[in-house]
Amino acid sequence: MKLEWITDIPLNDAVKEKMQAAADQCIRTEGISVPCAISVRLCDDDEIARINAFNRGINRSTDVLSFPTVSYPAGLTAGSCTALLRREYDDDLDACFLGDIVISVPHMKMQAHEYGHSEDREASFLLVHGICHLMGYDHIEEEDRVKMRAMEEKVLSSVNATRESSFSESDIELVRKAVDAMRFSYSPYSRFPVGAALHCTDGRVFTGCNIENVSFGMTNCAERTAVFKAVSEGAREFDVIAIAAYGQTPWPCGACRQVLAEFSPDIRILLAHDNVILEKQLSELLPHSIDLNSKENE
Ligand code: THU
Repeated sequence: MKLEWITDIPLNDAVKEKMQAAADQCIRTEGISVPCAISVRLCDDDEIARINAFNRGINRSTDVLSFPTVSYPAGLTAGSCTALLRREYDDDLDACFLGDIVISVPHMKMQAHEYGHSEDREASFLLVHGICHLMGYDHIEEEDRVKMRAMEEKVLSSVNATRESSFSESDIELVRKAVDAMRFSYSPYSRFPVGAALHCTDGRVFTGCNIENVSFGMTNCAERTAVFKAVSEGAREFDVIAIAAYGQTPWPCGACRQVLAEFSPDIRILLAHDNVILEKQLSELLPHSIDLNSKENE
């Protein structure tokens, strides 16, 4: 795969070599027989936020954006569209141009640090994610998301660049449910969809999303939606809640912390955004919580 670098923020050669290997592996794993090219722009958070605002109306920085140039027939990806790729072949470029990818270098570095792994792993992960989009994959519907994740994992494990996670399968499953719950978010005012998935000690999981209102104060956060659904169905003990958003960590607001503390002061909180997961205890986020039975001042 020919990578045309556009460098606002330089990256060291070792990282770029690893990204090149990951890009080549995408082509092999997808089974594309036509030479392909993409552009990869390396910029800072302000620039990616500007591009995000201009193209998607979301004025927030993010880790990676991708802009495909080939439109594949519904349900098909590049590997099964050889004739289409041949038609799109650019003689001057000597390749079929699949599209543009933008990566925020500081965002990539911050995520590598949060995850506790190397920058080349994180950069390869972001590039492969972007290339999958350029090859026709997406992650809006659950079925498509599973296909895209499988493709990403196949490529990344071939180039030894998977994102190692210390989270159990059940935690990751709960995060997936929180991400999925974001689809129902009603957030026309903030344009900040949030999803939550609350795991009860009896094994049930309740999901929730944020529901906004033109009278802003009437907004209900994703976490409280999930808690109220659970309590109204008889569940009052929770051990884990996953909260998901895009672009930034969805720290629970004070009201949600207090509502969670009412039922499960020892709950674990998984905060997920854009493939990054942080774990906190509620007691860390809400210290010195009110306790009417406290013997402290007797
Ligand atoms: N929000 C949540 O749903 N949960 C959080 O953890 C933080 C904030 C929502 C409320 C509002 O709809 C939007 O995010 C912006 O604050």
